[in-house]
Order: sequence, then C-alpha cells, then structure tokens
Amino acid sequence: DQVKLPAVPAGTLPYFGNLYQLLPDMLAGWRKLFDEYGPVVKVNLLGNEIIGTNDPAVAELWVKESEYFTKKIYGGLQEVKAFGGQGLFTTDSDDMDWKLAHKLLMPAFSPRAMKAYQHEMSVIGQQTVKVFQQYSPDEEVEILHWTTNLTFETIGKVGFGYDFNLVDDRYADNHPFIDAMGYCLKQSFARGTQSKIIKYLPLEVNRRYDRSLNLMHSVVDEVITERKSHPHASEDNKDLLDFMLTARDENNLGLSDENIRDQVITFLIAGHETTSNTLAWTLYELSRHPEIEQKILQEVVNLGITPDSLPTSEQSSGMKYTYQVLKETLRMYSPLRALAKYCKKDMVVPGGYQIKAGDRVAVQLNSLHYNEKIYPNPAQYDPNRWTPEEEQKRSRFAWLPFSTGPRSCIGMALALQEAKTVLAMILLKFRFVYDGPPIGYDPKSPTIRPLNLMMRIVPRDKLP
Ligand code: HEM
Repeated sequence: DQVKLPAVPAGTLPYFGNLYQLLPDMLAGWRKLFDEYGPVVKVNLLGNEIIGTNDPAVAELWVKESEYFTKKIYGGLQEVKAFGGQGLFTTDSDDMDWKLAHKLLMPAFSPRAMKAYQHEMSVIGQQTVKVFQQYSPDEEVEILHWTTNLTFETIGKVGFGYDFNLVDDRYADNHPFIDAMGYCLKQSFARGTQSKIIKYLPLEVNRRYDRSLNLMHSVVDEVITERKSHPHASEDNKDLLDFMLTARDENNLGLSDENIRDQVITFLIAGHETTSNTLAWTLYELSRHPEIEQKILQEVVNLGITPDSLPTSEQSSGMKYTYQVLKETLRMYSPLRALAKYCKKDMVVPGGYQIKAGDRVAVQLNSLHYNEKIYPNPAQYDPNRWTPEEEQKRSRFAWLPFSTGPRSCIGMALALQEAKTVLAMILLKFRFVYDGPPIGYDPKSPTIRPLNLMMRIVPRDKLP
C-alpha cells in the first residue's frame, strides 16, 4: 500500500483551525470526521495540531509504550499538571519520577491489596443505602452528587484512611475539595479551547482557580499530617498512603514529600470522578433496560449477596454479568475523552499513514468505541457484546477506557470492584427511576458526565 499523510479536513480556518467543526458536541464532531475522512485524521485546534484515530490497529501502536510512541504531557494534560504536578497521571514516561512512583505504588493495587479494600468499600455502600433510604420515592435526586460523594469517600478511605464524611446523611454537601477540583478541571479544559493570554489576566476565573488550587493543597496536607501523627500500625493492612510514605526501591529510594503531595492530589482526582460517572451512567441505562437490571439482580442473588450483608471480595469477583454491564457503560460513556501520546520516531501505521517524530496523536475513545465496523449498532446499549465468545471476536484494542500497557489506569481493578460492590448493594434495595428525555453529557466537563440526571430512588419490594 502507498504511504499517505493523515487526512486533513477541509475548512481549516486561520487560528481556530478545525475547532468549529468539532464544536458544540466534540464527541459527535470527531465521529463525523472519521466517517468523512477515514481512520486517521489531523486537526488543528487553535494552532495545535493533533492526529486522531478511531481504529484499534492504530490505537494498539499508539498506546503501547515503545521507541515510537510514548506518553508525554502536553495540551489538556499540561493544564491538569498545574495541579497534578509530578503525580503519576501527569508525568512523562521517561521521567524518573514516573518510573519510581509506578514501581513503588503498583503493589498498592495488587489482588491482595484489593481484597483488603473490600470491607471499606462495602461499608461505604451500606452508608449510601442509608442515605438513599432518607429520600421519598417521588423526590428527584441528582444521582451524580451521590455517586461522586461515595466514590470520593471510597478513595479517601481505602487510599488514605481518611473520612471525608460525605455519605453520612442526605444533607451531606459536596466536599470543598470536590468543588475546587471540579472548578480546576473545568478551567483546565476551557483553557484548551481559549486563547492562552486569558489565563494570565487578573480575572475572577483565574483568582478562583488559584484559590481552588490552594484549597486542594491544604486538604492534602491535612490528610498527610494526620497520617504522620497517627501512623498505621499493621504491616499487612497497608493502604496507598502507607506505600507512598514508606516504600523504597532496590536503591533505597522513596518518594519525596513534595511528590507524595502530588500523588495524593492525583489519586483523589483520578480515583473518583471517572468511577462516579460510570456508576451514574449505569444507573441511567438500567432505568431504561429493566431486563438488564433483572439479570444483575439474579446474579447478585445467586452469589448469595443479601440486602443487608456486606459483599465479600469473592462475591464481587463473581459478578461476571455485572462486569459485562460495566464494560458496556465504559464503551458508550468512556469517562476520558482521549489517550494522548507523542511520536518519538517516524512510523507508518496500519492503513499506510505516515506519523512523524514530534507528532501529537490521540486515540479518540468515543469514536473508537462507536466504530461501526467493530460495534454494529453502536448507540445500542447491549452488555451481550461482552460475553467471552463475543469479546474474542474483537481486537483487545477496540475497548480502551482504561488504556493499556504501562501507562494504563493503575486503579482499574479498584474502580471495577468498587462499582460492582456498590451496584449490588444499592440495586438490591432500590429501583432507580428516570422518566425524562434522553440524557446528554456535559460538554463543559473534561470527563464525560451525565448532564442533569435526576432520578427517583424507589425502595424495592420484590427480589427475583
Ligand atoms: C490513568 C481511566 C479509575 C488512578 C488512567 C488512564 C485512563 C484511566 C484512560 C490513562 C490516561 C492516559 O493515558 O493519559 C480510568 C477510568 C476509571 C479510572 C475509566 C474508572 C472507571 C481510577 C481509580 C484510580 C485511578 C479508581 C485510583 C484509585 C489512575 C492513575 C493513573 C490513571 C494514578 C495514571 C497511571 C500512570 O500513568 O502511571 N485512568 N481510571 N483511576 N488512573 Fe484511572
């Protein structure tokens, strides 16, 4: 095949580039570009060129760390680095800080560690059930508020042994950290589509941004100080923060205080919003597909999970069908928009496209997951796509909500275990009812979150 350059869409404007072809709905915008121009497309966004793909074979090469492609922080991630600092999420793969922290923190996510986290996860599930019991069945509840509180509480508790008290009762507010973080994330996203000058002007948005950053730092300092004054006693019940404070590599190197601060912020951020969105979208889809909900309940009951028990890690591992459901949610509503990578060395990728050293490339997750050649009827929510037989027919690079390889999500197992545990517990007790028109995503948020998802929480009177 002939070597060709990535397709460049017609209608590129000076300065704005292709921004207006992608707005207002960026996800649909990218899908349309791939439909029109093929699987590898180069767009210009306010002067920054980025090459996108929706093709698993190309994605495979981009996401695996290699001499050709790597994770290097630029663009939107550069903005997130303003608060993620040298944390795992926002450091280059060839940065020594990433290598050390990756090595030292991996054990905090081992299967053994996951087992140790199960009890806390179930307790938080139980607290959430109690909060939900405080609503009457005709009240409209912003469900994302609760999925956010419970996932934040979980990472606070299992990661750092810290109680944020966010699932104590129905009047629990957002934690100021959540608001501050939400603001910073939104700003960082807005900054990607704004003139760079704006962030240096003495505007209220910028002042609030700085205040929010300070607030996040002070919360984290409190979490660390608390642990240092009450060190964890038990060796075999280490949490993430213990690993950060005490782990050393073979040369006796550990994480610096400053690095630990960046890691804690990173984990508080990375550890909750994505899982929260996943739970909220799942509840929304289940309200539209009672037959799927019924199958989850059947599975949960078959595993011996009862409405008033705390699921064990064996039980949560046994929730295979529920895992299929979560996979389908993550396909359709991948919380992250793209996997951004950097080309280190010229390469011709499948399809014959020439990618050059220095190019910025990004797997567009929504477009990949809606690629009709791989997922017939992509807008249809169907967990049966994830039976082992069906899955085998597809490339494993056709589903990348957690990415893959060394730079993939370190919290994947934690997120899935948490989501399964909580779903089992709340579904045994309640039906989540949504009667409105189809829900869209919040275009201003960097992660894909449901917009105005108001649900009624109705106690369940009958189990399968
Ligand atoms: C990295 C997705 C939950 C911590 C990533 C990446 C993705 C992702 C796609 C790679 C980003 C990139 O290539 O730039 C998700 C999704 C989640 C989830 C969809 C939930 C459904 C979590 C949780 C934690 C976590 C619960 C922490 C407990 C991290 C960290 C990284 C990361 C620290 C950076 C890892 C590294 O590069 O070494 N996540 N994540 N994530 N995630 Fe998650």
